[in-house]
Amino acid sequence: MSAKILDGVALGKTIRAEVAAEVARLAGNGRKPGLAAVLVGEDPASAVYVRSKGKATEEAGMHSETLRHLATISEEDLLAIVDRLNADPQIHGILVQLPLPKHIDSDKVLRRIDPAKDVDGFHPVNVGKLVTGDQSAFRPATPYGVQQMLIRSGIETKGANAVILGRSNIVGKPMANLLIQQGPGGDATVTVCHSRTRDLPAVTRGADILVAAIGKAEFVTADMVRPGAVVIDVGINRVDDASHPKGYRLVGDVAFAEVAEKASWITPVPGGVGPMTIAMLLQNTLQAWRQIESH
Ligand code: GUN
Repeated sequence: MSAKILDGVALGKTIRAEVAAEVARLAGNGRKPGLAAVLVGEDPASAVYVRSKGKATEEAGMHSETLRHLATISEEDLLAIVDRLNADPQIHGILVQLPLPKHIDSDKVLRRIDPAKDVDGFHPVNVGKLVTGDQSAFRPATPYGVQQMLIRSGIETKGANAVILGRSNIVGKPMANLLIQQGPGGDATVTVCHSRTRDLPAVTRGADILVAAIGKAEFVTADMVRPGAVVIDVGINRVDDASHPKGYRLVGDVAFAEVAEKASWITPVPGGVGPMTIAMLLQNTLQAWRQIESH
């Protein structure tokens, strides 16, 4: 393997420690940042995420609340929960774990969150701020984590050809918006690819920085990667594997072994982008608290 590993576990830990130090410096008199996570239903992956978020929030010295509800909750009741959290002075960040059950309109729920507490950055107000370069925007945690990995590993984005696979509102679109902003971790020339892109391998081979976020196991193969490219794998996919105790293993959207032979930097799965997401969520909660309390 020739690629260097982008270690999200180590970097995430560093950022979490930085956030914890800021919380310790600024908190007092019973005042500290608070994050509420709302989980609807029993999706095992979502339950794992929400549990990790709660634990990390407490470790950072923040107030943490996790609200768990049955998948049968009505949209009206969920909206009422959001209203309550919007009005709660102990809560500065609100996160409604996606996906929500089919009978609930996710957009409606996300739009109900007070933009000042929208630490996921999914509310149209924050999407608009991100696009226009307003520094008070909340940056969606996963692409924000990818950008921090690039910055903190000394990977130059200025003038680089960045190719993003996937156009989701959670990763692909905000990733593009972060990489085209002026300044550190930005100034890239960005291409967003999706299921209708013609001759995808030709496009991805033009990437200095390739970000895969399509949710297809080991989709990106070595022939799609330019020698020396930086490859960021946002995917987390379960593939059946009888030799594993759980009967499955986790793989990314990148065929790691063969691509690692060709890339200059690569993120592993697990242990790459995943741990960065939680760190950036805490960073956003700190930002929300500072903006609300004018620290
Ligand atoms: N589901 C997958 N990723 C995310 C995320 O970043 N935030 C929320 N709320 N739900 C998700």
